[in-house]
Amino acid sequence: MRVSTAVLLEDAHKNRYAVPAYNTINLEITRGIVSAAERLNVPILLGVAYDAIEHMGMEPLFRGIEVIARDAAVPVAIHLDHGRTYEEVAEALRLGFDSVMIDFSYLPYAENLARTAEVARMAHAMNTPIEAEIGHVPGGENVTTTSEESDIVYTDPKTAAEFSEKTGVDFLAVSVGTIHGLYKSKPNLKIDLVGQIDAAVRKPLVLHGGSGTPDEQVKAAIAKGISKVNVGTNVMCACVRGVTGASYGQCDARACMNAGREAIYDAVSATVETFGTKAASVVLVGCKVAAAAAEAFGSKALRRPISSHLGQN
Ligand code: 13P
Repeated sequence: MRVSTAVLLEDAHKNRYAVPAYNTINLEITRGIVSAAERLNVPILLGVAYDAIEHMGMEPLFRGIEVIARDAAVPVAIHLDHGRTYEEVAEALRLGFDSVMIDFSYLPYAENLARTAEVARMAHAMNTPIEAEIGHVPGGENVTTTSEESDIVYTDPKTAAEFSEKTGVDFLAVSVGTIHGLYKSKPNLKIDLVGQIDAAVRKPLVLHGGSGTPDEQVKAAIAKGISKVNVGTNVMCACVRGVTGASYGQCDARACMNAGREAIYDAVSATVETFGTKAASVVLVGCKVAAAAAEAFGSKALRRPISSHLGQN
């Protein structure tokens, strides 16, 4: 079932676990991720980043995955990952994404702040939560190009607090030592920095570059306040390994793609264990409570009342 990203992440933040956000680029990978989440009984986010938009088109991909998300036996929220422009975010809001990210983290601070605030006003006018990034996690999405540790711009807690308050974003992506894509050497996350940012910001924090980051470091970061971990490369690599290793004999594209879909299970199960993701049934009880409270208080944080999605599956 479709649920609000805000409700999922607020529960995760309160209870010190993380919800995984898996990047998808097509229907096969989406099905692989969602089937794995159903088998494991955990809530997830599906991330659509620019590489997926360039590969498939935002609307065709969204239309397909919204039906898969709607019919899923576990809570699923659809998230625009690394939105590049005001217009791209506007298109995602028009389509009905459950949350959006705008990423101007590569710009000078004042420009990141001003442009993010403008996009956040638009997202909130559509009653949709928004994520932005402060500091900079280097590397591209779902690609095997590698970045250097020296490319990391670490998040400063005081700046993060000011950015969060002035832009009004709902979730904050932070840079604490991860890199998107494959690592050249073992990363060394600044765990204490996560705790300092959490204390200063007091909103769900997001860790990008989940693939290849040692489990014990991810666990420690979650214990200090990370509520969403993005995973792209691991899912892509699992899928490619499945597809290329398939002994399908004849030219049956379905068998080949099914092998890729199946292989995604391992990538998903390994991460949810590390993230301590709560069981879907437990999260749903929390969601019902949060939905009732949000409705009672007229909260603008929810994209749509989650209660309207509950009890339908
Ligand atoms: P990885 O590809 O390193 O897992 O990073 C994904 C990500 O952060 C998407 O925003």
